[in-house]
Amino acid sequence: MSYQAKFRVWRGDSEGGELKDYEVEVNEGEVVLDVIHRLQATQAPDMAVRWNCKAGKCGSCSAEINGMPKLMCMCRMNTFEEDEVVTVTPMRTFPVIRDLVTDVSYNYQKAREVPAFKPPADLKPGEYRMQQQDVERSQEFRKCIECFLCQNTCHVIRDHEENKENFSGPRFLMRIAELDMHPLDAADRKNAAQEEHGLGFCNITKCCTEVCPEHIKITDNALIPMKERVVDRKYDPLVWLGNKIRRR
Ligand code: SF4
Ligand code: F3S
Ligand code: FES
Repeated sequence: MSYQAKFRVWRGDSEGGELKDYEVEVNEGEVVLDVIHRLQATQAPDMAVRWNCKAGKCGSCSAEINGMPKLMCMCRMNTFEEDEVVTVTPMRTFPVIRDLVTDVSYNYQKAREVPAFKPPADLKPGEYRMQQQDVERSQEFRKCIECFLCQNTCHVIRDHEENKENFSGPRFLMRIAELDMHPLDAADRKNAAQEEHGLGFCNITKCCTEVCPEHIKITDNALIPMKERVVDRKYDPLVWLGNKIRRR
């Protein structure tokens, strides 16, 4: 069954732009990305959109659909009424390059600022051993497809460009938590999380968790435990004593 849908798509570039209305055919089983592709093929050949897998796995097609951050390839058209206007806009937290494509380099910058896994100096490759439950704990975080929808949604940076320098966002605070929970990681992640990556900015609103297409419990399983680890460190009597002695 086909019908004509009403689409409103943001068209423009870094200089500015506007929402443009389209009427476009929709067929059974299609997702928003199919419709955007049909618009490109039939009415707007210069419409810019980033995508790759069309299977919810590459994290490229992130956008806002009726104001909700989503993957366009995983958003089914049958979740809308046939006469409903479907509005598609680029992610708001990142600068627009053109139409639905944003410049997500903030995220790559933050990724570079997290040092890689640091194994203990006395272990050689092949000698690493860890418990299955530790493996399973980080497994959830490694499902991340780097769609950056959580980064786009977090209110700390969504309308606050000024916070970007000091806040790495849920995706990279989760990466730090993953490394801190790794029993063999020898780097100090706790101070860095608080001092360099802005863990304290997060007031656990959980909006990041709500939009994650991989259903990772970012707040409950990564950010809150990381906050607890930072606090434990701060109030650990041995650490407290050590800091006191060092300050003398
Ligand atoms: Fe996307 Fe979830 Fe990874 Fe955030 S944590 S980048 S929402 S997959
Ligand atoms: Fe932002 Fe998620 Fe914390 S939305 S405030 S990082 S819980
Ligand atoms: Fe790969 Fe949508 S095209 S996640």
